[in-house]
Amino acid sequence: MSAPELTVRPAARRLWRGGRLVTFQDREGWGLVADGAMVTAGETLLWVGALADLPEDLMADLRHGQVEEHDLGGALVTPGLIDAHTHLVYGGERSAEFELRLQGASYEDIARAGGGIRSTVAATRAASEADLLSAAEARARALMAEGLTTLEVKSGYGLALAEEAKCLRVARRLSDLGLTVRTTFLGAHALPPEFDGRADDYVDAVCAWMPQLQREGLVDAVDAFCERIAFSPAQTRRIFEAARALGLPVKLHAEQLSDQGGAALAAEFQALSCDHLEYLSESGIQAMARAGTVAMLLPGAFYFLRETRLPPIEGLRAAGVPIALASDHNPGSAPGLSLLLMLNMACTFFRMTPEEALRGLTVNAAQALGLRDRGQLVAGQRADFCVWDAAHPRELAYYFGRNPRRTTVIGGRERG
Ligand code: NIG
Ligand code: FE
Repeated sequence: MSAPELTVRPAARRLWRGGRLVTFQDREGWGLVADGAMVTAGETLLWVGALADLPEDLMADLRHGQVEEHDLGGALVTPGLIDAHTHLVYGGERSAEFELRLQGASYEDIARAGGGIRSTVAATRAASEADLLSAAEARARALMAEGLTTLEVKSGYGLALAEEAKCLRVARRLSDLGLTVRTTFLGAHALPPEFDGRADDYVDAVCAWMPQLQREGLVDAVDAFCERIAFSPAQTRRIFEAARALGLPVKLHAEQLSDQGGAALAAEFQALSCDHLEYLSESGIQAMARAGTVAMLLPGAFYFLRETRLPPIEGLRAAGVPIALASDHNPGSAPGLSLLLMLNMACTFFRMTPEEALRGLTVNAAQALGLRDRGQLVAGQRADFCVWDAAHPRELAYYFGRNPRRTTVIGGRERG
């Protein structure tokens, strides 16, 4: 009997013509290509450039009908948006705490009184996996409506092995929407009530859960909340050591409410990113620069907590630390679901330029997830891009409450 014949079908190729491309191909500038074209092969960008420069072999294939054509009608095209810091899976909501804060209570007061993250932990533990999934799906869809193509989701509202696993499984399921999902284990988010007064024992437990969660394929990275109301630098170090022993990259909620030296500690472990950073010191900046750690700024939390201290943007720029942005979507400090609003807030609050802001949701956000295959429109990267009704990319940061998205393409396929 002869061996079955193997048919290797080449990935379908498509030409996307008539776009104004924001490629971010260089370290600076938008990398604009006026009459731009992209050729995709399956999930990958095969060629990107000005239509006039399309190579002859591709032109010939096009003439022979071997490449499907899409006209972008002069629209603006950017890399797909990447939300590299979210707490998207949780039960309940915390609008009552919002009212308390408006009456003068601080985020820390509420946490110390047993509310805050702990109240979401109770609601999350009480929720079924199916209910958590449908709520998280609705949130992910809202982000996708504004061009999301890659999503990071943290655990941290289960705070027990089975509950953390439940939330991470839900996060993984969000990839059914067509997105790339990266999951981060944030067991060290808050002390659960059953460990009251035994924070070190809880840290031991978190470290002990890590190998099992990793074996179940639920963990891409490990995060912690290093803060007066959460975990000390010494406890955070133990979490990072456990992650390092498993070969897992780390990131950190650092210097959000006070300077704990968390960023320098995270940099010692080559953290992918340090996040929040309003209270980041100069030595923290230098440590991050040396380690190549991304500064993840979260203007939604800055706004919603009515923070007045700005992250040290000038120092980060001067040291060449890449700056990323994210929604930080969570029920306590940032209940918003708009990445475009994050662009606007990063410019108005942090005085980032529109170009820095959009890099923060694309190329630098990819770096914050350790993903090298996305964030720019260059050959070899994933064909994840957004098509917008805008004449210039700065408009994406300029408007707020207006969504100019026309189409999103993820892995070479139109997704609404
Ligand atoms: O990123 N700072 C810690 N974690 C979240 C808030 C969590 C919550 O309040 O539920 C944040 O701001
Ligand atoms: Fe967060």
